[in-house]
Amino acid sequence: MKIIVFGSINIDLVAITPRLPIPGETLLGESFFTTPGGKGANQAVALAKLGIPTQMIGRVGADNFGAEIIKNLQNCGVKTENILIDETVSSGVAVITVDQQGENNIIVIPGANGKVNQDDINRLSNLFIDAKFLLLQLEIPLEIVILAAQKAKEANIKVILDPAPAPNNLPDEIYPLIDIITPNETEASQLVGFAVNEQETAAKAADTLLQKGVKCAIIKLGAKGVYCATKEESFYIPAFSVNAVDTVAAGDAFNGGLAAALFQEKPLKLTG
Ligand code: RIB
Repeated sequence: MKIIVFGSINIDLVAITPRLPIPGETLLGESFFTTPGGKGANQAVALAKLGIPTQMIGRVGADNFGAEIIKNLQNCGVKTENILIDETVSSGVAVITVDQQGENNIIVIPGANGKVNQDDINRLSNLFIDAKFLLLQLEIPLEIVILAAQKAKEANIKVILDPAPAPNNLPDEIYPLIDIITPNETEASQLVGFAVNEQETAAKAADTLLQKGVKCAIIKLGAKGVYCATKEESFYIPAFSVNAVDTVAAGDAFNGGLAAALFQEKPLKLTG
């Protein structure tokens, strides 16, 4: 059995700065590096590093970035045969600023990720035969995300959707297709239309998402932990206390870890 990750594959251009710049400001940064990224690819790497057979589906451009990203995924143990090299467009790129507190902001230029279409859905469906979970995010076209979730549902494969980047509007038809949705505070606020920033508002948001049709809502509250709700139970888990160095892809790593644990048949609420 395996997990399929269908989504974005980027190269990240990262500037480390003393603080995040304000509009119109030129700021002297401290350092710069490039590194493979993309919410989909990051989730796939997290899964593979946790020993889960992982298949990535998506697109990169026919450029050096594309080749580098695929090589990195392979080195991490991710299966990449179903990543298409799209000759018509550049690879996805994210321009990222990280400050001294580990906070970040990100601009994504979708490139090849924006070209994902029905052909990719056909490749995806061919992989369903021994798949247990499909992990989705929102850095590829929304209509394709919905189609992928529909196909997975028909094939009895569990769908975990990270609604990131925060969508302006997620159509109601998608919610019943989702087994687990994992918004952070910003994404949850966007989805439910009120501010979500601690346990009480997270509980309200989770309730709203359950009513819309998801089976399980996990609201990621960053350093404040997570709130999790299904129709049967709801609980809050505080976060481990850490010194945050860089929060980029923390949510992606979370989803990889979550899916890996569920793949290994661990319960949603670990006790002891
Ligand atoms: O979640 C972090 C990721 O978002 C980065 O790797 C970047 O590529 C953007 O997709």
